[in-house]
Amino acid sequence: MRDSFASRIGMVLATAGSAVGLGNVWRFPYMTGENGGAAFILIYIACIFMLGMPGMISEFIVGRHSQANAVRAYTSLSGGRRGWGLIGVLGVVTGLTILGFYSVVAGWCLDYLGVSLVGGLRGDAASVERYFSDFTSKAWQPALLAIAFLVITHLVVVRGVQRGIERASKVLMPLLFILLIIIVVSSCMLPGAADGIRFLFYPDFSKVTHHTLLAALGQAFFSLSLGTCCLCTYASYFRRDTNLVRSATEIAFLDTLIAIMAGLMIFPAAFAVGVQPDSGPSLVFITLPNVFRQAFAAVPLLGWCIAVLFYALLVFAALTSTISMHEIGTAYFAEEHHLSRKTSASIVTVLCAILAVGCSLSFGATDSLQVMGMSLLDFCDHVTSQYMLPLGAFLTSIFLGWFISNETLRSEFTNEGTVARRLFPIYRIAIRYVVPICILLIFLDQTGLL
Ligand code: TRP
Repeated sequence: MRDSFASRIGMVLATAGSAVGLGNVWRFPYMTGENGGAAFILIYIACIFMLGMPGMISEFIVGRHSQANAVRAYTSLSGGRRGWGLIGVLGVVTGLTILGFYSVVAGWCLDYLGVSLVGGLRGDAASVERYFSDFTSKAWQPALLAIAFLVITHLVVVRGVQRGIERASKVLMPLLFILLIIIVVSSCMLPGAADGIRFLFYPDFSKVTHHTLLAALGQAFFSLSLGTCCLCTYASYFRRDTNLVRSATEIAFLDTLIAIMAGLMIFPAAFAVGVQPDSGPSLVFITLPNVFRQAFAAVPLLGWCIAVLFYALLVFAALTSTISMHEIGTAYFAEEHHLSRKTSASIVTVLCAILAVGCSLSFGATDSLQVMGMSLLDFCDHVTSQYMLPLGAFLTSIFLGWFISNETLRSEFTNEGTVARRLFPIYRIAIRYVVPICILLIFLDQTGLL
């Protein structure tokens, strides 16, 4: 029999675990820092409501209806037309690409956890910065850590949905939440923290450009794990009576809450020591170690503790997400190519390890892996979050909105008329018009065609 989630809480935690990841703790804060704080957050929340939630529900519908891997899910919902399966193929490819570069950053988190545990990263600002560039430009160490992270992910995934994914999420997610609360409280109690809180909650619209819109959209998709059939794969393990609308609301709420809490953990501490939060992707790896050291200079033991807890938090957040990306490919290879779960998980791990080594080497060790003037890592991030994820979400909404009968859609959305009936017309308008048009407009705007 096909594996499935055993309990509702396990299902919500696993799916929220997929959504909550480096996207929340690493990417969201630096995007917010670069794009004007609260103004970006408001646009981001609008994206979550208008595009993210309908997009999530759509993937849930495709997955739960078919109870199959991404490719077969689209084919079977379309009544056997294989062309639609290509959305699933796009999802599998995007998922593996993201897992490739994501595990590199997750590997850095592992290293930082180890180094902060033994009391490293406590020199002056310049030495912390040097540590990051020295470490990431080494040839093998970061690459091996990325592979180590993939292997840990692999070991969870091969155990299956209930015994692997669900169990790991039930431990890691509550732990993550506790760590987050401890750090948020310590950070907000620092003298000078109020400026950081103000930055996070008072919108400065002068920093908003058309890039902000696309950045917010890409971030919303990335953070909700949308557009790669990740949610569709997880939904294929949902029970038939799962209330999809309620689950999507809970997961989007948890995801946004944790992103904003991550902001509350980082900005107050950064402002307390007078560090500008717009340093981009290196925020978490260069700015923060300095911030922790300076902010807690009076009580070095507390500074050490906070740094260790913070990198542990990053590792846990990353792990529940890599597990979900891994599962997209694992389910696909196992079911479509009739392989054992072990073999198909190994294929995913090896493919991603190759990409991860490339991404890792491109980040300093060699210049030969540049694509369009970016390191392979930045290139993969850019192409997936700005093009492939929106494309996947666009095609899914066109598929459900225009090619699936209203009755089928309604019956899935409402669990055969038992829940959320009044919301269905709104959802239908969202996926027929709002989602595709918004994605298209943002695209045209970015390419300068508008
Ligand atoms: N949402 C995760 C994060 O915020 C990353 C992630 C997991 C993801 N699965 C995904 C992103 C699928 C895109 C697609 O870190």
